[in-house]
Amino acid sequence: MILQNDLFLRAARGENVERVPIWLMRQAGRILPEYRAVREKAGSFIKLATTPELAAEVTIQPVDILGVDAAIIFSDILVVPEAMGLPYEMAEQRGPVFPQTVRNRQELDRIKVANAESDLAYVLDAIKIVKKELNGRVPLIGFAGAPFTIFCYMTEGKGSKTFSVAKKLLYTDPAFSHALLQKITDSTIDYLKAQIRAGADLVQIFDSWAGILSPDQYRTFSLPYIKQICDALAETTGVPVTVFAKGAFFARQEIGQLSCSVVGLDWNMDAAESRQLIPDKTLQGNLDPCVLYADYGQIKAEVTKMLQTFGTQRYIANLGHGVYPDTDPQKVKFFIETVKEFTA
Ligand code: CP3
Repeated sequence: MILQNDLFLRAARGENVERVPIWLMRQAGRILPEYRAVREKAGSFIKLATTPELAAEVTIQPVDILGVDAAIIFSDILVVPEAMGLPYEMAEQRGPVFPQTVRNRQELDRIKVANAESDLAYVLDAIKIVKKELNGRVPLIGFAGAPFTIFCYMTEGKGSKTFSVAKKLLYTDPAFSHALLQKITDSTIDYLKAQIRAGADLVQIFDSWAGILSPDQYRTFSLPYIKQICDALAETTGVPVTVFAKGAFFARQEIGQLSCSVVGLDWNMDAAESRQLIPDKTLQGNLDPCVLYADYGQIKAEVTKMLQTFGTQRYIANLGHGVYPDTDPQKVKFFIETVKEFTA
């Protein structure tokens, strides 16, 4: 299918663009009243995510309402542990909880490598519906959590500021940690390949908890597994991959050497310095989501400064992390329009 708006994909591949493309991490849901209406109809987050027609509907909402240059499939990174045999619950206001965890060999033996076509068919079906309904308007992003970030949830069992249970295992039982990380990696490679077969035009790997690791630990417990995923996808699919490692400012150079096309940056990462460290990839990011709480004049000034430092080529505008739920959708729209109107 020929895309009517392929700015995002061209920028990802390093090709020239007429203007900077923009999408927002976590654009589907949370900020939109239209999302909350569908979620209410579904009854719960998990019901919404596992009902392909509804997941497809909320995936397309931000394209229609906000005018972003890409859609991202509505799902969650936690569907992978679920497919491996570790179900999760989404506690209202508190976030995800895993009633069972995996903290030793015995527990590891009880979980399997997920088979995407059978265990995650609902996501693949949602992707197929979205592709049909988008009808080439914008590209569709698929995604998965990085193995280390998934490891954090599977061992800790819930969100945490420190993930000290997860990190403790890296020190006390590295052999177990590597075995679990490998099982997650194998599941993720199969899952992302399946998303691409179903129609995803680019896939993003979210390493949301990268920043809790030391550079050494990151090199040992996260980067090699992300590398396996990038290499497996580069070999077989040719579809661009984005690596977003929140907080891993110390690993930018090494991330820049992976076989990915785009590197996502958070707001702690300086634009000019990042260009130097990652000279031959497209960069994505990195406005502080809190800028969108400011007044319109301030938003415009911050966004313009960001665009001037990154430049208009090999760049995809985004926030430095997901949009916060209490952000005014009008300010989000203003951010998007400011990017679209920018000329160097
Ligand atoms: O718009 C999109 O980006 C697509 C949908 C998407 C969701 N989660 C839906 C969701 C994506 C890409 C994710 C990824 C995700 N999920 C990450 C990585 C990105 C990041 O923010 O670092 C992580 C760490 C999770 C785990 C997770 N899921 C948490 C911690 C929570 C609770 C807090 C919250 O509201 O985000 C979720 C729930 C979740 N995932 C919601 C949505 C829309 C809110 C649930 C609801 O509707 O009640």
